[in-house]
Amino acid sequence: MKVLLFGSTGRTGLAIITYLLESPKSHIVTAVARNPSALADHPQHDHKNLRIVKGDLKNASFVEEQVAEHDVVVFAAGMSTVMGGRTPDGIYAESAKTIRRAILQAQRVSDSQRKIRFIGVTSGGIRPGNEVNFPFIYQFVIKPLFLQPSYDEMVLMEREFRDPDQNAEEIDWSFVQPPRLTDVERTGNYRVEAEKMIVGGCEIGRKDLAAFIVERMVDDETGEFRGKEVTLGY
Ligand SMILES: NC(=O)c1ccc[n+]([C@@H]2O[C@H](COP(=O)([O-])OP(=O)(O)OC[C@H]3O[C@@H](n4cnc5c(N)ncnc54)[C@H](OP(=O)(O)O)[C@@H]3O)[C@@H](O)[C@H]2O)c1
Repeated sequence: MKVLLFGSTGRTGLAIITYLLESPKSHIVTAVARNPSALADHPQHDHKNLRIVKGDLKNASFVEEQVAEHDVVVFAAGMSTVMGGRTPDGIYAESAKTIRRAILQAQRVSDSQRKIRFIGVTSGGIRPGNEVNFPFIYQFVIKPLFLQPSYDEMVLMEREFRDPDQNAEEIDWSFVQPPRLTDVERTGNYRVEAEKMIVGGCEIGRKDLAAFIVERMVDDETGEFRGKEVTLGY
């Protein structure tokens, strides 16, 4: 499949590139990067199935062109830090609108059976009731002081795809809502829940998350997680 990846230079995105290129499905991968030189050190940067394209999610016509050429869109972009009072500035909410519009447009101009899959990464913290899982400092300091603006946008992002008023069935979407991300090595040993929270499990490694996205979502042909919000944790 032809897979378009937003957030390719991020810590999860780098691992997604690796697992997409290692997949037995021989994906053709387009990694979108605002600064392509950031991928120069990636071990597979010269892989024959990898195309690195300079671009920005804020450029709607660029996003439309790219989406139209692909079978799957993976969104692993986000804010690298929420400290220092940074607000998300549309990276989730506006990107969702742009990507959704681009998917619908591409599907409409091609054959009526065509479905472009969308897989988005948001966060476990946006699910109401999840707080009980997470440490005190997260609940009462980090979330309200730093994370809430991003979470508010992530909710809007998910709504853009799953809201029935938006004809959600027209798009083949899934969201992954990871808890706190860490940089441990891949373990392959974690729990997964669809449409409900995991009790405990307040961390997941970015490599495990990336492998899950590729192996259980992009490569999956059964549709197990289609139209669902999925969370995972150790
Ligand atoms: N950190 C956590 O504990 C945590 C927990 C749950 C969920 N999440 C979410 O998980 C996702 C992945 O997190 P991460 O920590 O692996 O990511 P990350 O390292 O922060 O990388 C963010 C990526 O988004 C890209 N990006 C930002 N704005 C962009 C734009 N306008 N156009 C194109 N690309 C843009 C960045 O590109 P540049 O290299 O050009 O900046 C970078 O590739 C994020 O959505 C994050 O919010 C994080």
